[in-house]
Amino acid sequence: MKFGRLRVALIGAGQIAEVTHLPVLSEMNDRVELVGIADPAVERAVMLSSRFGIDNTFGDYDEMLSSLNPDAVFVCTPNKFHSSATVSALRSGSHVFCEKPPAINAREVQEMMVASKEAGKILSFNFHYRFRSEAIAIKKFVDSGDLGEIYFCEATALRRRGIPGWGSFTNKEIQGGGPLVDIGVHMLDLALHMMKFPQPKSVTASAYCKIAKRNGVGLMGGWDPEKYSVEDSAFGFVRFHNGASLILKTSFALNMKDRSIMNLQIFGDRA
Ligand SMILES: NC(=O)c1ccc[n+]([C@@H]2O[C@H](COP(=O)([O-])OP(=O)(O)OC[C@H]3O[C@@H](n4cnc5c(N)ncnc54)[C@H](O)[C@@H]3O)[C@@H](O)[C@H]2O)c1
Repeated sequence: MKFGRLRVALIGAGQIAEVTHLPVLSEMNDRVELVGIADPAVERAVMLSSRFGIDNTFGDYDEMLSSLNPDAVFVCTPNKFHSSATVSALRSGSHVFCEKPPAINAREVQEMMVASKEAGKILSFNFHYRFRSEAIAIKKFVDSGDLGEIYFCEATALRRRGIPGWGSFTNKEIQGGGPLVDIGVHMLDLALHMMKFPQPKSVTASAYCKIAKRNGVGLMGGWDPEKYSVEDSAFGFVRFHNGASLILKTSFALNMKDRSIMNLQIFGDRA
């Protein structure tokens, strides 16, 4: 059976749309037709549409959804808008690929899942670490039982001085949190994927803001300490009903030797 190209639109014309999604989607032009892009910063949408050959630009995504009826929508906005944009796109009849973290609280994620179910449309999130070749290789060992029972994981997403100097990553109101929801969430997702998503029993954690309030230049550009309103590090411990446990360590700024560590250690009773 032969299918036509998938008509894809983007909501949000920022950095991740520009450097990741649009270059990749435009290479898939045998399967994907880029039909529109919406951003209240219309000049961003116009700039990217001319660079990637997209015919339609909008300041308002609802207008884009009703006039184009895309098959699939990529949600690439700051975190605060993930849920509302995703629910609108699902209800208008599009499948949705939403950037991580899914949303800024559990209630919003629930609304997204309900909208996906009611619309009968696919909702997926950009947890791309699962699809790295080393993660796929390790998952095969996990699934074949070679590691035995996995009873402990240590998920690490630490940066020494890696506060993003662009966008709204340091703004709690818009992002919902700092390193925990920005980079910690990737390693947490990878750990849960490897552990086959056991049911959490309890979570205990501490979050700090000890360094980011002090100076404004790091390895990922400058930031304004006065406007820094998210945690700069967070450390948590999760117990699961199946007896397994997980430690998560994450930071944008931490006094440590390495510049950055993105790592997952998986401990089974056989390997
Ligand atoms: N998967 C990854 O590893 C990864 C990496 C970087 C960013 N991200 C995620 O991508 C998202 C965007 O990050 P970014 O770095 O591109 O940020 P950014 O600030 O560069 O871009 C966000 C864009 O969204 C636009 N926007 C704001 N409100 C909007 C709305 N209501 N409708 C449409 N557009 C709106 C802004 O004008 C801006 O152009 C975030 O959720 C972030 O967590 C994921």
